[in-house]
Amino acid sequence: MATSWGSLFQDEQQLEELARQAVDRALAEGVLLRTKQEPSSSDVVSYAPFTLFPSLVPCALLEQAYAVQMDFNLLVDAVSQNAVFLEQTLSRARTGSLAVWGHLCSFSSALVLLIAQEKERNIFDQRAIENELLARNIHVIRRRFEDVSEKGSLDQDRRLFMDGQEVAVVYFRDGYMPSQYSLQNWEARLLLERSCAVKCPDIATQLAGTKKVQQELSRAGMLEMLLPGQSEAIARLRATFAGLYSLDMGEEGDQAIAEALTAPSRFVLKPQREGGGNNLYGEEMVQALERLKDSEERASYILMEKIEPEPFRNCLLRPGSSARVVQCISELGIFGVYVRQGKTLVMNTHAGHLLRTKAIEHADGGVAAGVAVLDNPYPV
Ligand SMILES: Nc1ncnc2c1ncn2[C@@H]1O[C@H](COP(=O)(O)OP(=O)(O)O)[C@@H](O)[C@H]1O
Ligand SMILES: [Mg+2]
Repeated sequence: MATSWGSLFQDEQQLEELARQAVDRALAEGVLLRTKQEPSSSDVVSYAPFTLFPSLVPCALLEQAYAVQMDFNLLVDAVSQNAVFLEQTLSRARTGSLAVWGHLCSFSSALVLLIAQEKERNIFDQRAIENELLARNIHVIRRRFEDVSEKGSLDQDRRLFMDGQEVAVVYFRDGYMPSQYSLQNWEARLLLERSCAVKCPDIATQLAGTKKVQQELSRAGMLEMLLPGQSEAIARLRATFAGLYSLDMGEEGDQAIAEALTAPSRFVLKPQREGGGNNLYGEEMVQALERLKDSEERASYILMEKIEPEPFRNCLLRPGSSARVVQCISELGIFGVYVRQGKTLVMNTHAGHLLRTKAIEHADGGVAAGVAVLDNPYPV
């Protein structure tokens, strides 16, 4: 991808002045993070890392990404409702068993319970959502899993109460990694799942996003099974898939491992984790495969074909470092929203995008993991 900011990259002085202005603007607009040193306090904050310039994104790709989001919403919904598919898929990856509770009730208030950690660098992002809701007269209470296990309760109709107030929606900003679940936290999660409050996401929807599920979805016939009669949506979805390979014990897994060991630069090894920084590449991947290949543990990983986007130049800004013009690659994400009531989909839409950009020397990484930075697509 070519960039049209080329001339600005040459002029170091101008670049520094632009960077100073951009950082002040980011701070003034609330593009903030708590610091690594003080993740529980907002006394000292800094800006979230970002690119000085927007990155060029072809219009056609941006439109394609937006268009396919509603299909992805349908797919996530179909997977989350298919307990048999989830159980079968995830029991092999040994990520735990599943029970899905479907229960509807009406609420006397519209209180939102936001589950968060105390150490939360990304609190301003969460506050922005709280503020938007408050502007619509919807109140948000922030609590930890520990608070839920101490003070949360269900009545006989499974209505959820927190500190005596009825909760309509539970929004999880914690509970995405095994390390975030003590026994007490598991019990709190179970209580929340059993309640008739709307969960964002409920456990089934969360599991629908796991790497193992992604890999199983790319198997021939899977999309057809999950989205019967929706051949156009299936074609749009499949057009976005990269190669994904199971490492389950057996011939298929043996072959995938053999291929990855022969051409390591073409693959990425992924465990059942999210949040960035967990995937293995190159020599590290080879070592892990050598260690895992004869053990059943390998089934909890998947292999993915490595995506090699064309690099371009941009200037990365991050607190404590001087502005750096480097070769970068980007990853575009679209936010999807859907609401289902019983069997009826009452909303299915997209709600904006997130472009994350990183220097090419980093194989893996999200913004929270400290590798990628926030960016804006410049449609061309
Ligand atoms: N197939 C791939 N090819 C190249 N890089 C990848 C690939 N899959 C993941 N990555 C890199 O690793 C990061 C994290 O991987 P991802 O699968 O999105 O897991 P997570 O759930 O941690 O976000 C991505 O943001 C991207 O930078
Ligand atoms: Mg990711």
